[in-house]
Amino acid sequence: MPLVNTKKMFEDAYEGKYAVGAFNVDILTQCQAVLEAAEECNSPVILSFSSGSRDFFHPGNIKDILLIAAKDIHIPWAIHLDHGKSFEICKACIDEGFTSVMIDASAYDFEENVRITKEVVEYAHAHGVTVEGELGPCSKKDDPRFKKYTDPEMVFEFVKRTGVDSLAVSMGTCHGLAKFQPNEVPTLQFDLIEEVEKLLPGFPLVLHGSSSIPDEYLNIFNNYGGELKGTKGVPEELLRQVAQTAVCKINIGTDFRVAFVGGLRKSLSEIKDKFEPRNFLVPAREQCKKLVKEKLSNVFQSSGKVINILKEE
Ligand code: 13P
Repeated sequence: MPLVNTKKMFEDAYEGKYAVGAFNVDILTQCQAVLEAAEECNSPVILSFSSGSRDFFHPGNIKDILLIAAKDIHIPWAIHLDHGKSFEICKACIDEGFTSVMIDASAYDFEENVRITKEVVEYAHAHGVTVEGELGPCSKKDDPRFKKYTDPEMVFEFVKRTGVDSLAVSMGTCHGLAKFQPNEVPTLQFDLIEEVEKLLPGFPLVLHGSSSIPDEYLNIFNNYGGELKGTKGVPEELLRQVAQTAVCKINIGTDFRVAFVGGLRKSLSEIKDKFEPRNFLVPAREQCKKLVKEKLSNVFQSSGKVINILKEE
């Protein structure tokens, strides 16, 4: 059960030209799906909790619960706070045993973002925890700041002044179901990544808003009473390319949630004569596991990449 921070994960991903998958979870059944999928692919993986999912899951005990759940897991895995909005929430998660936190102070101006991020970095590093910052914004499509790409020079200054371990930058994606306009050709800012690679060799970037919304999972969701419309995800081919760059962590929330709830919708609709919750949750868990395995092996190219991460110093 090698619960680790993300330092060696990202060093190996950078060198080995692949990305580590981070999946947004709410419940233990989903954590099991991610860990089992990663174990079967022999991939490193990150369980990502928003502040809301931490509150729902079990604040205070997430690490203990997951360590028991992961007793037969041998791949390196991390517990990460996604989009922590303040020093206080990051500190609480560090104190509870999260191994990685994201401080997202991108709503503030540059100087305030630097100040808050640096404060989190100092506390986190004193506790062996790695920190992701955000110089974005990685916003939603209706945010007026949408697709204001991050300036590589500012990335350099931000990283130097904060000491952050990885950084989410705005390079063409956003959270949610529709990442591009209906008739827009999806692209990512590969030039931006190359500029950062030149200025900060070896420094890991993070891609948010990376769901592809594959038809297979969307159709199951919608064929069993769902109504998700107007979706436009990031093509898998772009993600395969980006995984070979300085982008070392790729976040998946929407696809994972659609797969889980779609699986649940299907089993609730098809199974009429049973009432044990596990009869409905197991198909949902299996659907998530299938999705995670596809992402880890076919898209992020992280299969079999655990040896260097587990090596003793
Ligand atoms: P998606 O909405 O594309 O799944 O992105 C999730 C994410 O970036 C979480 O921070």
